[in-house]
Amino acid sequence: MSRRLSRTWWLRSPTSGVKVLEPWPRLRPGTPSGFTHWVNMPRTIEVLPDRVANQIAAGEVVERPASVVKELVENALDARATRIDIEIERGGKRRIRVTDDGVGMGREDALASLNRHATSKIRAASDLQSVGTFGFRGEALPSIAAVSRLTLQTKAESDPLGTRVRVNGGTITGFDDTPRRRGTTVEVSTLFFNAPARSKFLKAVGAEARAVSDVVSVLGLANASVGFGLTSGGRVLLELPPASDLTARIAALWGREEATTLIALSTESDGIEVRGLIQRPDAAKSGFRRAHLFVNGRPFRSPALLASVDRGYRTTISEKVRPWAFLYLRMPPGTVDMNVHPAKAEVRFRDAAVVESIVEEAVRAVLTSDSSAATLDTQLAPPQLVVLEPRPPRPGRTREEESQTSLFLSADAAGSAGAAASPDIAASSGTAASSGA
Ligand SMILES: Nc1ncnc2c1ncn2[C@@H]1O[C@H](COP(=O)(O)OP(=O)(O)OP(=O)(O)O)[C@@H](O)[C@H]1O
Ligand SMILES: [Mg+2]
Repeated sequence: MSRRLSRTWWLRSPTSGVKVLEPWPRLRPGTPSGFTHWVNMPRTIEVLPDRVANQIAAGEVVERPASVVKELVENALDARATRIDIEIERGGKRRIRVTDDGVGMGREDALASLNRHATSKIRAASDLQSVGTFGFRGEALPSIAAVSRLTLQTKAESDPLGTRVRVNGGTITGFDDTPRRRGTTVEVSTLFFNAPARSKFLKAVGAEARAVSDVVSVLGLANASVGFGLTSGGRVLLELPPASDLTARIAALWGREEATTLIALSTESDGIEVRGLIQRPDAAKSGFRRAHLFVNGRPFRSPALLASVDRGYRTTISEKVRPWAFLYLRMPPGTVDMNVHPAKAEVRFRDAAVVESIVEEAVRAVLTSDSSAATLDTQLAPPQLVVLEPRPPRPGRTREEESQTSLFLSADAAGSAGAAASPDIAASSGTAASSGA
């Protein structure tokens, strides 16, 4: 590809060398004082137009239909939805539609939301220390819109009418009024229609639908009190009514029998809270496991932290056995960096070794306590882990500021719920109802 050469006028000064004059000076009304003469120099570096930048960002944020669903559902959760419905066709390759009953947007916000780096969730870099929302980069919607045909319909409570915006491959092609109830619907059709190299890498319909189902399950684990519905080609894959506790959500996902094999753990050390559910040693099997990690309400991957869970089991069960684990960490602001991965799948702890040893100890302690001594035959009642939902944040405040980042379990129930992290979304699940499309 040939590089287009631009020419830019520079001013040369004996004291400060050469300075570029922006914007391009078409007319040069004499030489400003302090400068000796104008120099015309070739230039090869250009700032990319937003449309191209969005397409590049899409490469990191939008890998497959499941990543679109993740971003749209996270936006719905950030908008404090109580019910989120996801419909996909052909594994999401043909169509993805996410509808929420959250706060919605007015017209100006609806149009602004499609701009790169447009976000309502942070205002300054320092907000990243305590970000309590799933989103904060302001790039998901423009990235998705850059590689699809997208329609955004939304209405804020106070507006009489909603707004509908249509975007084709990153270009807004029109917007108008639309009657609708409060909330937002985003429909994404023909993902990667303008990026054939990417669509080539998509998997078969069933595999893509399973990945979508996994994403919804994980976000459902992070938000037990929110209702979720997922259909694929009109067939119900998941129906998760609002749950009062994490065990009930797990039971809705994978059955009550599995939920009763879990025991609750809870610990706090160095300002770090670890709560969650782990499998009773006598119920743990080898092979496939469900293991999900969450920090401050956000799912994340960490093979190292899962290894510390396993170390906690070591004296109890053999290395081949892979117990289920759902762990929710709550870290003080500044001790965890969420912004290390474009899709936010990974986080960086300021002191990972401390977190790992707290988790290992918490697992070991609960396994030596009475609750793990019961066998499956005794059919313990599932632990009642009451989810205390955070209050909605005030406008302009992050959820963390409003103590809303995680779901907390009642003090007497030593378990936790928070935001779901899948240590490995792709590898770790395959939800009960996710088998096909
Ligand atoms: N479902 C929704 N309901 C209400 N507002 C929404 C919804 N989806 C998006 N928005 C608004 O649009 C903005 C842009 O969304 P987008 O997902 O692009 O960025 P973000 O969520 O702020 O950050 P990130 O790129 O990390 O997801 C959001 O900050 C939010 O204000
Ligand atoms: Mg977002």
